[in-house]
Amino acid sequence: MHENDAFDRSARLAESLEIIARENDIDHETMTGKILHMVTGLVSEPKSSFPTPPTYRRVIEGESVAGPGPKMQSSHGFFDVVKARASRRDFGDSPLSLDIMTSILAWTLGQREETIAYDWRGAPLRYCASAGGLASVDGYCLALNVNGLAEGSYYYDYQRGLVQTFIGAVTEKIAAALPSMTWLEKAAAIVVLVGNPERVDRKYGVMASKLCLTDAGVAAGHLELVATALETRACILGSLPVALLSETLVLEPEQIPLVSIAIGSRT
Ligand SMILES: Cc1cc2nc3c(=O)[nH]c(=O)nc-3n(C[C@H](O)[C@H](O)[C@H](O)COP(=O)(O)O)c2cc1C
Repeated sequence: MHENDAFDRSARLAESLEIIARENDIDHETMTGKILHMVTGLVSEPKSSFPTPPTYRRVIEGESVAGPGPKMQSSHGFFDVVKARASRRDFGDSPLSLDIMTSILAWTLGQREETIAYDWRGAPLRYCASAGGLASVDGYCLALNVNGLAEGSYYYDYQRGLVQTFIGAVTEKIAAALPSMTWLEKAAAIVVLVGNPERVDRKYGVMASKLCLTDAGVAAGHLELVATALETRACILGSLPVALLSETLVLEPEQIPLVSIAIGSRT
């Protein structure tokens, strides 16, 4: 595609956004501002109907390679963990243990209880909060150096544990995508939080995009603290390319990689 074509298209989009913004009394200059105000402002009343049960997980064929956990606990006090949290990029060479990997995912995205929601039984409540309890964000793990996990990508299913979506070399691809971040080469795993906007769209309509992004932020902050409590090093990553992640994680078109967390060992 010619650079000018892309420019023309984005100019037309900006123009349309401007018209929508004017029609809806949104007075914002930047395109990001316009988009954010569109998705957050146009519909403020949730539409609430679940004639069929909400979907809380992706169903993937194949054996799970590790249970859903959680297994490991931390002996550190909560506020010591808060004090210790920092974006750590100084990863050691040791692999992560499988128990630590599943525990990090489980203490964030695992099921803490079951409840009745929207008149349907069997609704999972997770350790981390989500809009409407609808679990719009799922966790995937790129295993780069995890004991007991072949290099590749895995879906964390709160019912079944880690289910493989792809097996093969991913470390070089990830490192090549962000050549300025050489520290990433030593990450033992990258957790990718993937948005499923349709899970919240059923209830919240146009607010779905905002809530899905918020869910991803909540889960990322929660997971970073869990990773700290379990004495690993972690850094949130907003910059991994979406196309690369979608291909490597084997996502469906409607599933959107939103934010990642690189995790490594201390030694
Ligand atoms: C949404 C988000 C995206 C981020 N993306 C990156 C990134 O791509 N690369 C990176 O090195 N750090 C990234 N960070 C980490 C920030 O640089 C870091 O949080 C900030 O410098 C403050 O440092 P602290 O986390 O140690 O307090 C990101 C943090 C957040 C919350």
